[in-house]
Amino acid sequence: MGRSATFSKLFCASILIAFSAAETSFSLGSQDLDILVGETKVINLQVTDLTQRVNASVQTRHSGILELNPKSIIINPPANDIYPIEVTSIEAGYTTILLSIDPAIADVYDAFIRVTSLHSIELYHFSEVIGWIYFVAWSVSFYPQIYENWKRKSVVGLNFDFLALNIIGFTMYSIFNCGLFWIPSIQDEYFEKNPTGMIPVLTQDIFFGLHAMFATVVTITQCFFYERANQRVSWTARGIILVFALFLLISTIVAAATDKLTWLDILYFCSYVKLAITLIKYIPQAYMNYKRKSTVGWSIGNIFLDFTGGALSMMQMMVNAHNYNDWQSIFGDPTKFGLGLFSVVFDIFFIFQHYVLYRQSRKDVAADPEKPEKTGKDEIL
Ligand SMILES: *[C@@H]1O[C@H](CO)[C@@H](O)[C@H](O)[C@H]1NC(C)=O
Repeated sequence: MGRSATFSKLFCASILIAFSAAETSFSLGSQDLDILVGETKVINLQVTDLTQRVNASVQTRHSGILELNPKSIIINPPANDIYPIEVTSIEAGYTTILLSIDPAIADVYDAFIRVTSLHSIELYHFSEVIGWIYFVAWSVSFYPQIYENWKRKSVVGLNFDFLALNIIGFTMYSIFNCGLFWIPSIQDEYFEKNPTGMIPVLTQDIFFGLHAMFATVVTITQCFFYERANQRVSWTARGIILVFALFLLISTIVAAATDKLTWLDILYFCSYVKLAITLIKYIPQAYMNYKRKSTVGWSIGNIFLDFTGGALSMMQMMVNAHNYNDWQSIFGDPTKFGLGLFSVVFDIFFIFQHYVLYRQSRKDVAADPEKPEKTGKDEIL
């Protein structure tokens, strides 16, 4: 496509430049800097093979977070030198230090530093620990259901729409993660859009998504072998999945045939499908419990672990919001926080169904295991 052709031309051009000797270059060293509020650190502007006098100046993308000293340096040729610049943090937040030179005799595309200014290093570690705990809680949360199915040799009471939506959701999530993490041409598109950004996918995200797919496939396989009465995936759920599939199919064709959409856009569409699925996936299970007046067959262990994961993930977002003074990403862009909140509210509802509304149904089954559950006859949705 047009963009990538330009990109590879640029790339060839920069290789040529790299091989032609004595090219002027400017660098700010490493591209990430963490700093505590009140702290001062030194960054180094490195200049090589300067051929004419320049005014090199640094500025931050957001005001009020850092103080830079000096803000500009007049450099005379010949120069192969390092010029220290003091960075003092005056407020928590995220920003980027950008270099510009006047006259613009060299490319300073790579001369930037992403700065994270934080209140407290303890909170940073605390947030990391929370992150690992909810990663484990969410990853383990699949197994109580698998165990319960195995123990009962039955999946009666586990909603198939939930499973169908779940496998589609985690597949879309993994496509998004793996694409951004492993495909260089997609990363190029990402950096073209966000030149000083970071790829928003961590190794844990990759593992979590792929493992979630695996565990859901195991659960679905159980449905083929264990007693399932007349449960099936409802027409409503099939219709919804068809709409998602058509949406992604059409966007993929548009991306392949035109340059109206990039592959990065397609990955983001996959992540929107995943978000939509997260919003609706528990509804059929909650409705089924209501119709059966029972939660037998629906693992409460799964719900407790999901609740733990969701609550800790929201807690981590609040700790980070405080530490990085970034409440904008919680309240300005409520997607992630809203999703965590939504799952937690659903989990509380399931706990209420299990321990309050339909507790009698569990006692009936426990008292008389031979008694057929009335579940099988129910039509789902
Ligand atoms: C160098 O550039 C900065 C920022 O554009 C400007 O404030 C400063 O006055 C310039 N210095 C000289 C000596 O021109």
